[in-house]
Amino acid sequence: MKRFASIFLSMILAVGMLAGCGSSTTGSGSKGGTQVGIVLPTKDEPRWLQDQKQFEKLLTEAGFTSEVLFSQGSSATEKTNVESLITSGVKVLVICAQDASAAGAAVEAAKAAGVTVICYDRLITDTDAVDYYVTFDSVAVGEAQGQYLIDNKPEGTGIPLYLYAGAATDNNAFLFFEGAWKVLQPYIADGTFVIANSSEAVALQDKAELTYDEKSKILGQVTTDWDFNVAKSKAEAHLTANDASMKGDVLILAPNDGTSRAIADAFTADADVSSYVITGQDAELASINYIQGGKQSMTVFKNTSTLAADSVAMASAILKGEKASTDTTYNNGKIDVPAKQTPVTVVTADNYKQVLVDSGYYTQEEIDSAK
Ligand code: GAL
Repeated sequence: MKRFASIFLSMILAVGMLAGCGSSTTGSGSKGGTQVGIVLPTKDEPRWLQDQKQFEKLLTEAGFTSEVLFSQGSSATEKTNVESLITSGVKVLVICAQDASAAGAAVEAAKAAGVTVICYDRLITDTDAVDYYVTFDSVAVGEAQGQYLIDNKPEGTGIPLYLYAGAATDNNAFLFFEGAWKVLQPYIADGTFVIANSSEAVALQDKAELTYDEKSKILGQVTTDWDFNVAKSKAEAHLTANDASMKGDVLILAPNDGTSRAIADAFTADADVSSYVITGQDAELASINYIQGGKQSMTVFKNTSTLAADSVAMASAILKGEKASTDTTYNNGKIDVPAKQTPVTVVTADNYKQVLVDSGYYTQEEIDSAK
């Protein structure tokens, strides 16, 4: 009896977990099939829940039937999600890939079924099965992070600089790093900054522009995998490996908010670190609180409502049989993908109210309750 109860309980749990990977349907139901399918990387980073919220709002307003599915960090789940959307009859697939190159197979299946594919935020590489790309200006994100460190650096030279990056499976991680390197490298080359945690970056410090392979080598050492646990343990290991001469007043390039908070916590816990300036990205609620409390220095705000609105406008044009409007192209290793690009905004303790609260993106209550 007990055994039965426990089997029954685990079945309920399993069903619950599957639903958690989950889907949410918007629009007027799936009677005529789903028109627009959205696939996002994971529910576990607050960033993607913001995107989900915007999509559901905008697609409902536009009167489209749609479904949002999460891949939960797995390219296999992502592929299953795409297949289930194809079965639901989607005409347009909006996909933010878990892994830039592994997602190729999923979008090739969509293309073969006559679906128009829009890469959302992250470019899918090495395939011709993508029609459009809707993105933020990712090189500008890295430039803004690097420039913030330069503008807020301590006096003197030989300032320790700790570098961290996103997941090597995410094309954006390369673009962010490229932007940051572009502005930081002259200060590294002239000795104002000293790289504290990457022998590969030190070996390349005189090169203004890095090849993809060179960036890969550096990312291989300083990737966080977009995971705050990885970020924290790497930061702790770097602090353990360095003596006090590489501490004091330091600069930290952190790629996004989740990793920034984790790395900031590790640096705060080290008695030899007297101050740090640290970057971020995504304007997550928890990071707005860190910024208010002086624990994180800045974040790069990416207005997900603009990105979602651009995707919905694109989907709408496609469903009408029109060509979607774009303003640039991104090469994905196979083709030049027509792209719509959105600028980004630097947010600090001085302007977060104006940029995030006055604009209605967040309420002050939302920020306070994330404390
Ligand atoms: C990137 C995305 C960032 C950040 C990161 C972590 O691809 O552009 O905004 O959220 O992933 O998931």
